[in-house]
Amino acid sequence: MAADPGEFNRVTLLECLKQRPIITDVHYYEEVDSTNTMACRLALGGAREGEVVVADAQIKGRGRLNRAWQSPHGMNLYTSTILRPKIEPAVAPQMTLMAGLAVADLFSLFCPGSVSIKWPNDVLLKGRKACGILTEMKSAAGSLEFVILGIGLNINMNREDFDPSLRETATSLKMETGKAWNRLDVISKQFDLLEKWYKIFLKEGFSGLRKDWMRYADILGKRIRVAYKDEFQTGIVTGIDEDGTILMQDESGASHRVIAGDVHLLGR
Ligand code: BTN
Repeated sequence: MAADPGEFNRVTLLECLKQRPIITDVHYYEEVDSTNTMACRLALGGAREGEVVVADAQIKGRGRLNRAWQSPHGMNLYTSTILRPKIEPAVAPQMTLMAGLAVADLFSLFCPGSVSIKWPNDVLLKGRKACGILTEMKSAAGSLEFVILGIGLNINMNREDFDPSLRETATSLKMETGKAWNRLDVISKQFDLLEKWYKIFLKEGFSGLRKDWMRYADILGKRIRVAYKDEFQTGIVTGIDEDGTILMQDESGASHRVIAGDVHLLGR
């Protein structure tokens, strides 16, 4: 693959993404506040399933828990896909796991053997974060209207491009492979894999992907601490359920299901 030659624009994106049935339109911005925010505006205005927002840079890239997502020009991939699956709102968070699997498969094409998923939404290369996923949704009267699947991939960032606070924990495809990658090549494979796993998810839910997702999970049998709002829970992970929740046993032997939160590995 050729290194990123800088021809990343609406025309080249349309050319490389147009044959993907999952994609019904591409909205490209050289700079946007956040592709998720923009996709949300478009979805509220009636945008269809499969409309994708892509930006070269974000000035207010958003992460989970109100964190910022570093989004400089010319280096990475920031995409938000509008989806309107016919599923219950309670099932929508499983789409984060589905997207994580698609990204883990994507990174494995470039860095085989170095990829893991940190539940629920981080994809790591050699233990450092190279992708974040922000899934947002709107539902009304108990039914799901749309889901925004926001994916940030660190492609060609160097260590010094990261904020100093992230340098020990974040990485990019370039840092792990020693070479720059063409973002058009990467994004076209990203949507091939997203389409593959989304179709399976629509038919079978997370249970149809669970086995493959587990190939990348490294938390089974490990001691974790889960932080959710102001509460903490510590225990050993005994499994990942059919709906994507973590099953865990605390020191007293009691079982818990973890639906949301920040997971920290404590070791065995
Ligand atoms: C996280 O790890 O906290 C999630 C980060 C998600 C970042 C992506 S970049 C594309 C999309 N637009 C955003 O503002 N956020 C997501």
